[in-house]
Amino acid sequence: MDTQEQFTIPRLGEAKVSSPIKMSLVDGDKIANYVKDDEAILYDIDIRKQDLQEAAWKPRQMEKAGPREKIYFSPSHVHAGIVTCGGLCPGINDVIRSIVRTLWYRYGVKRITGIPNGFKGLLPEYGFSPIELDPDIVDDIHKVGGTILGTSRGGGERTGELTDTIERMNLNILFVIGGDGTQKGALKIASEVLRRGLRISVIGIPKTIDNDLAFLQKSFGFETAVGRATEAVAGAHTEAHSTINGVGLVKLMGRDSGFIAAHTALAVNEANFVLIPEVPFDLDGSNGLLVHLEKRLAERGHALIIVAEGAGQEHLPPTHMTDRSGNKVYNDIGPFLKDRINAYFTEKNIEVNLKYIDPSYIIRSSRADATDAYYCSRLGSHAVHAAMAGRTGMLVSLVNTYYVHLPIETVISRRHTVDPEGSLWRDVVEATRQPVLMKNR
Ligand code: F6P
Repeated sequence: MDTQEQFTIPRLGEAKVSSPIKMSLVDGDKIANYVKDDEAILYDIDIRKQDLQEAAWKPRQMEKAGPREKIYFSPSHVHAGIVTCGGLCPGINDVIRSIVRTLWYRYGVKRITGIPNGFKGLLPEYGFSPIELDPDIVDDIHKVGGTILGTSRGGGERTGELTDTIERMNLNILFVIGGDGTQKGALKIASEVLRRGLRISVIGIPKTIDNDLAFLQKSFGFETAVGRATEAVAGAHTEAHSTINGVGLVKLMGRDSGFIAAHTALAVNEANFVLIPEVPFDLDGSNGLLVHLEKRLAERGHALIIVAEGAGQEHLPPTHMTDRSGNKVYNDIGPFLKDRINAYFTEKNIEVNLKYIDPSYIIRSSRADATDAYYCSRLGSHAVHAAMAGRTGMLVSLVNTYYVHLPIETVISRRHTVDPEGSLWRDVVEATRQPVLMKNR
């Protein structure tokens, strides 16, 4: 059920401390304004006109992110921790840098600790040493990809032990940079903290190249990953274009959501077939991929296929495995498609020259492009403002072009996927001119 309650942000208590950030409360004085607690951003902007006529209908509101005049924590008492979890993603270092600099320079918080190697850095059995952070240490980190803190999958389910360490370290704030699985762990910690009567703010920052976190406009790193993916796809197109019946086949990351594949296809605008997890397809039969590929080669002499890693799993045996983040491990669709395409044309005695490209981790290990770098630095500072104001169990994000607070519980309640009936997929089908559905029924 979609309700206003979905957007209620948990608070640790009343914010009574005057913020050390000198800003303004009045308009027109050319000084940046504090954000007031009654400022909200509407969530529902895509509406049916008839909804507006219904007196009972009200658009849902989200809390606006930004610095408050009154904050919850006394900056001199704050000890903040930062942890980065899950797979790599462009922009992690940018977020760390922004958090450290905002804490240090804006609030005067001087105790900032990096937790090494994800949630495992909070589990004593691993024996990882915490990393002291300050503006000098983070000065140049945004110029490289990866995470200076290290990362890992798993461990987030050991809520009791994680909270014990957080308590032992005397952390007042924990910034958790991660995707879906990580944020589930963060929410459990935030709940356990409250259950124990502690006053520790847990703030998430949405990291994933898959862009599969629901409710928010985009997770950081996604746009850079698309940028790197376009380079691989452009290479595949050049290869395909230069040979007899050349087929470029590119597999892109995107486990359960085809956003990287769809956006890359629209950015390159040269793909003929895009295969994503959300849209099933047949291989054989008169409306299957292979027949349509044959037609395309007969007409144009070359073809470009983009396949998301989670697509077409219905053609492969399940692995029955999950990774340490709890995600299903899929069979490899790329080599499978390559073999099926080659076998089909060999059988028909038609020459094809298929080049298979899997850019794999290259798309997520680079430093952030400008748009992501900008996004990350703003996410980092908004995360600090939220924490200092005593919010918890929430993540900062962009929604409807505004920075807002979203409850983690809401964000992880569903997965963001490409809607096969929505405008993104419609535009992909239009651009590729692939059949609307490659199913024989
Ligand atoms: O979740 C992000 C992601 O890059 C997925 O697209 C991909 O399936 C997965 O991580 C692979 O990560 P790893 O090999 O590190 O588990």
